[in-house]
Amino acid sequence: MWSFSIRLARLFDDWRIAAHAKACHKIAMSTSPKHSPPRRSLLSVPAINQRALNKVHDLNCDGVIFDLEDSVFPEKKGEARDNLRRFFRQTPLEGREGVIRINGMNSEFRKEDLELIGELAPDAVLLPKVDGPQDIGEVAGLLAATSPGVRLWAMMETAGGVLNAAAIAAADARLDCLVLGLNDLRKETGVLPQSGRAYLVPWMMQVVLAARAHGLDVIDSVFNDFRNTEEFMVECAQGRAMGFEGKMLIHPAQIEAANRAFGPSDEEITEAEAIINAFADPAAEGLNVINMDGKMVERLHLEQAERLMAKARQISERKMKA
Ligand code: COA
Ligand code: MG
Repeated sequence: MWSFSIRLARLFDDWRIAAHAKACHKIAMSTSPKHSPPRRSLLSVPAINQRALNKVHDLNCDGVIFDLEDSVFPEKKGEARDNLRRFFRQTPLEGREGVIRINGMNSEFRKEDLELIGELAPDAVLLPKVDGPQDIGEVAGLLAATSPGVRLWAMMETAGGVLNAAAIAAADARLDCLVLGLNDLRKETGVLPQSGRAYLVPWMMQVVLAARAHGLDVIDSVFNDFRNTEEFMVECAQGRAMGFEGKMLIHPAQIEAANRAFGPSDEEITEAEAIINAFADPAAEGLNVINMDGKMVERLHLEQAERLMAKARQISERKMKA
């Protein structure tokens, strides 16, 4: 799947995991540069929808979330698992992440879902409706023997989950990414679906903060009105400004806008190059802060610029591999 470069990244990650495990009760000191692949556009594909599964290889999303949970009718869970078996064996994803969203751990589907994860070894398993760190710990324990290489992602979509965001983010070294789920959160809390998401913003930022404090990626929620391109673009820009790495998507029509909004823009690349060049100038040697055309630039901006350029390189590599 996400082949050589992600394996290298994982070697680094394994080292990070070991360090993290030692101190997982502590807050990681900073958002150390992530070595995760691009996650601008993560398309949810109902595992029961064979036509949609057939389309995935032609779509330019950074990753795919194969859904066994809410988009699959209870009586069809078995058929959906079989579809994924066929997909992973016959037409596996190349060069991008494949994540399986399983059903809740209290559901009757738990045993067969976890067996499927053991069988297919996706890049990650996405746990729905995570309420607290114990939910992560339980699945991490169950998967430790059968699927040691599979990472954990958590849906943040319950009131309890948002309240416990920091503890969830610190729960296990295999946790890699938090994904916000506003449909369920609105349902539980009664917050209305309004453009601008004003009443949800404090909770969203709490999830962003928790994820970043523990060095995790964080993904913005789906946008249901998939024909409303204009408002979708506004919401993507808002998500990017809030610190999200990308967006969970429900429809192919949303992919390009999400890629644009969450990827580095031409202006950002130009600015990053200017910062890198400015610090590479011998005149900047021994300086931690410089004047760049009337703007204070510190070495922390250099780190940000290097990170942005690395992300831009990853994105163009991802395009070549997919
Ligand atoms: N992944 C891949 N292909 C998709 C897709 C998806 N998520 N959503 C739609 N498509 C395909 C359709 O299959 C269709 O192709 P086809 O004509 O060859 O069948 C094409 O894109 C156009 O689809 P459209 O007619 O506009 O929509 P639809 O009525 O087929 O589907 C939804 C609309 C909302 C039901 C569908 O997009 C969907 O199920 N999305 C994901 C829902 C989900 O995962 N929910 C759980 C997480 S919140
Ligand atoms: Mg949900």
